[in-house]
Amino acid sequence: MPTNNEPLSGRRALVTGSATGIGRSTAKRLAADGASVIVNYVGPPDQAESAVKEIEGEGGRALAIAADVSNEEQVQAMFAQALEELGGPIDLLVNNAGIEKPFNVVDMPLEEWNKVIAVNLTGAFLCTREAARGMTKAGIPGAIINVSSVHEVIPWREFSHYCASKGGMKLFMQTVARELAPQGIRLVNVAPGAILTPINQDLIDDAEKRKAVEDEIPLGRTGKPEEIAAAIAWLASPEADYVVGSTLFVDGGMTLFPKFI
Ligand code: BGC
Repeated sequence: MPTNNEPLSGRRALVTGSATGIGRSTAKRLAADGASVIVNYVGPPDQAESAVKEIEGEGGRALAIAADVSNEEQVQAMFAQALEELGGPIDLLVNNAGIEKPFNVVDMPLEEWNKVIAVNLTGAFLCTREAARGMTKAGIPGAIINVSSVHEVIPWREFSHYCASKGGMKLFMQTVARELAPQGIRLVNVAPGAILTPINQDLIDDAEKRKAVEDEIPLGRTGKPEEIAAAIAWLASPEADYVVGSTLFVDGGMTLFPKFI
């Protein structure tokens, strides 16, 4: 149960796409560390509501709010509701919502390209803008943490839209970090490697595919959502107050080019 000694006590957090996967683990961890947490989701509310129940069951505070992060009106309505329900502006935003679907560039429908850029990159922009507006208006510091990917730097065949979104997220984060650091608002990225979550259902279902991915990881195993949540919780905490504009790779060494002689 969170106490006043918890590192995130008094913080108002919003985690996008937190009904499942890394987002869900992050929402749970931030709540355990004392933050009040908005569990953002799209689609049916069941899983978001079960995340809220789990958090409440452990003595934390959480609320589910539906919003498509790529939709400006829905994002603004979500931040307005969060302000009202939590009694102050969000001061800890985790831009986690993300999608991916493989296409060679020659076969990539514009619609699929647009969808990935809209959720992964424009969604991060819209939520960052609203969070920054809220904190600036109230004159309070805070943190904005993007869940990017090792594909912030590693090119991935058939995922040019995804890589463009994550590479874009890196310079977006660094640029806004420069803009907002003078106000005590820190932006950082956490870049996960291969984590066993629903986005990687094929790795969960197919041992051979999983082995091929594990061969790309010096540590020899895929990651757990809790390991990403722990990195996010630390970056959000006062201990990380001097970390600005960095990307923390949490990938078992995947970015070390393990197959390069
Ligand atoms: C993707 C995963 C992939 C991992 C490593 C992540 O950003 O979401 O599907 O397994 O990168 O390639």
